[in-house]
Amino acid sequence: MTADLFALNADAQDLLFREAHTAKKFTDEPVSDEQVAAIYDLIKWGPTMTNSQPMRIVLARSEDARTRVVGHMLPNNAEKTANAPLIAVLAADMKFNRHIERIFPDAPFMAQMYEKDDFREPIADSQAWMQAGYFVMGIRALGLDACPMLGLDRPGLDADLFADSDLKCICVVLIGKPAEDAYGPRLPRLNYDEVVSVL
Ligand SMILES: Cc1cc2nc3c(=O)[nH]c(=O)nc-3n(C[C@H](O)[C@H](O)[C@H](O)COP(=O)(O)O)c2cc1C
Repeated sequence: MTADLFALNADAQDLLFREAHTAKKFTDEPVSDEQVAAIYDLIKWGPTMTNSQPMRIVLARSEDARTRVVGHMLPNNAEKTANAPLIAVLAADMKFNRHIERIFPDAPFMAQMYEKDDFREPIADSQAWMQAGYFVMGIRALGLDACPMLGLDRPGLDADLFADSDLKCICVVLIGKPAEDAYGPRLPRLNYDEVVSVL
């Protein structure tokens, strides 16, 4: 049983991975700001290139914000988004380098390196995605479920919500307690031999 090889106990492994599912339906139980803060305070320790931390979390809590996000979801995602206790829009700050001098006061080359848009922007995107993965695991660590979604009109959402900012939506994540019929059938995963090769 490979579960024995981990430093994390088997229950925690189940909670984060083996038993964790993508919820498609949630109970009405609200998700508080305190819970979101707890998730962020845990997942902020995940690594990013040069500690760049480009992911931003935009919580759509008002009726107006929720309706606007739902309006950009593809039809198969609209209803579950409209009914979710909490809608989080995850975005990349395309000018995350505004914080770099504070984080690395003694390394001016970092600021210079990130001045070039064609170097900085793919890093904003890829590193925000790394943090999005940590975010999903943080949600699970709190005993909640996440439904990350890419089935939406991201340029449309950006134009609607982020027109006056440097944020670009990477995905939308629904957060809450799973309803009884929250899960579809467990889809198969690729086997070790299909994924790992040794050179
Ligand atoms: C980046 C990303 C985008 C996804 N987009 C959608 C989506 O648009 N709609 C949806 O219902 N599920 C979406 N999913 C959920 C996946 O289909 C789901 O996580 C996967 O099939 C595994 O399901 P399981 O966790 O229940 O095993 C997305 C997942 C990720 C990580």
